[in-house]
Parts: sequence; structure tokens; C-alpha cells
Amino acid sequence: MAVEQPGGSGVSSEGASGIPSQGEVKAELAGVCETTLWTLYQRAVEARRPDGLLHDPKAVELVERIDFPFAERFGGGDLLAQLQALRVGSFDREVADFLVRCPRGTVVCLGDGLETQYWRVDNGRAHWVSVDLPESIALRERLLPPGPRQRLVGCSVTDHRWMDEVETEHGVLITTEGLLMYLRPGEVRELIAGCAERFPGATFVLDAVPRWLSRLASKGKVRGHGFQAPPMPFGMDADERDKLATAHPGVVEVRDVLPLAGRGLLGRLIPAAARLPLIGSRRPSVVALRFADRARG
Ligand SMILES: C[S@@+](CC[C@H](N)C(=O)[O-])C[C@H]1O[C@@H](n2cnc3c(N)ncnc32)[C@H](O)[C@@H]1O
Repeated sequence: MAVEQPGGSGVSSEGASGIPSQGEVKAELAGVCETTLWTLYQRAVEARRPDGLLHDPKAVELVERIDFPFAERFGGGDLLAQLQALRVGSFDREVADFLVRCPRGTVVCLGDGLETQYWRVDNGRAHWVSVDLPESIALRERLLPPGPRQRLVGCSVTDHRWMDEVETEHGVLITTEGLLMYLRPGEVRELIAGCAERFPGATFVLDAVPRWLSRLASKGKVRGHGFQAPPMPFGMDADERDKLATAHPGVVEVRDVLPLAGRGLLGRLIPAAARLPLIGSRRPSVVALRFADRARG
């Protein structure tokens, strides 16, 4: 839930990133909804760096407008911001490629929260649908009011009625950035199967945390500063990605989306490390699924 406070008051934070909060809009998101403030903050931290991997002025602007103690709650680490930017980059490339193939297509962003991808990669012609839980969508509507080609849908992605809001005529790409780990494994399979049935020919891009991270989060052991990550019931090691095809016969392609090189020695090693047998299978992964033109049962 978001409560607007005209004139701003309450907490004003200036953290390691040096991003001052003006406190114009108060963010009161709890549980899994709060995680969108975490990803927003990491993007803003990265975007503020002169050598940052991400150009995202909208994320910086949002962090300045939201009344929330970002730095106290999430800290401001170079590594997390960089890893987040690499994940974002993988999703942005997939969307940009889709918009080249289908310039008037629909990009459906499940669990969109306060993602600012529209402002990074929109082509001026595509349609965008953001789906998230009602509390997150209420905050998005205040901070990022939709333009004529954008639609907001406030419901769980497990309630497949959001599918009725998707215009399919010019092609569909579905993204689930930072979402699936918060669903149960059965819900992930049902979501993939439902999309394969309903959106033949579409691409579905997801990211997954490895099993070790899912186990730690479920024990409440993924934490730092004032923040404890919610349970992540769905974990998948990178080398298990082909199992995703068993969710529905309409999944005809499973593709590993590797990150580009990042900043510094560690950042440069990341794409190579992703190909090493042991590390490579236990890393967070981004995967693109392609659905058959007509779902086969
Ligand atoms: C880590 S945030 C990611 C937000 C955004 N995609 C990004 O990358 O910045 C996870 C998002 O998933 C949303 N979410 C979690 N469970 C959901 C569900 N069952 N249905 C819809 N959205 C959900 C949360 O509200 C939150 O906005």
C-alpha cells in the first residue's frame, strides 16, 4: 500500500550510494512486495555510478521520490548492484530483440513491481502490460502512471485472468524478472503451461535462483542490514533448465541467456564462470522459453 504525503515528511535517507530520498511518496510494502524496492534500489545504485553497467535515470528518480530508508534497509554494495544490473541487462536484451522482430508486439511483465524497463527499451510502438499484486500495482500507479500503450493489472500471476488483458495480434513476449523464486514449483509449472496454451508462438523469459539459495532463503538466512529476503520456494540449478520443457508440450525451445561481462576483474570473469561445470550449474540463471505456434495439448 502506498500513502502519499504531500510536501514530504518522515524518513529521508542518504546512503552509501549518495541518493537522497525526498520522501514525496511513502512506500509501505511488506513481505514479497517489498522486494521490488530492493531491485529498484540496486538499479539506482548502479545507474548512479559513472562507470555503471546500466543507464536507468528513472530508477534514480524513483529512489529520490520514495519515502523509504533504502540505504539503512538494503545497504549499498557494489557487487549486488552489479549482479542485479547484469540480470537486468539479460532481460533488456531479450525485450529489445523481441521489439526488433515484433515492433508492435506486447511485452507482458509479470511481477513488474517498480521496474523501469519501459523507459530503458521501449520503441514508441509496442504495448506493455504490467502484472503484480494489488499493493505493488497501487504504488506503481502513483509513481509511474501508465501511458496510452501501458496497462496495469493488479492480481496474482497465479490467477490467470490477467491473460485476458493481453493483446496478442502482433506477437507476445512474457518476462518474469525476479518473480518465479517466490512461487511454489507447481505454480511455476502451471504458469508456464498456461502461457504456452494461451500465447502460442510467444517467448517466456524467466530467472531462477539455484537450489542452495532457495534453501537458505526458506530458512530465513538470506539477509543483510535491516532486510531479510522472503522464502524462495522455487529453486532451479542452471543445468536443470531443460526440465522446464516438461511443464507443457508446447515448450519447444529452452535457451540459456548468459550475462555479458561486468565491471572489474570479477565482472569480467562472470560469463566465463557461468560455463564452468560446478559453478556454472549452481549460479542464478536466466532462461528463455519459446512456445510452439499452436500449443499441442
Ligand atoms: C524482486 S521483485 C521484482 C520486481 C521487478 N520485476 C524488478 O525486477 O525490479 C518481485 C515482484 O514480484 C511480485 N510478486 C510476487 N509474487 C507475486 C504474485 N504471486 N503475483 C504477482 N506478482 C507477484 C512482487 O510484488 C514484486 O513486485
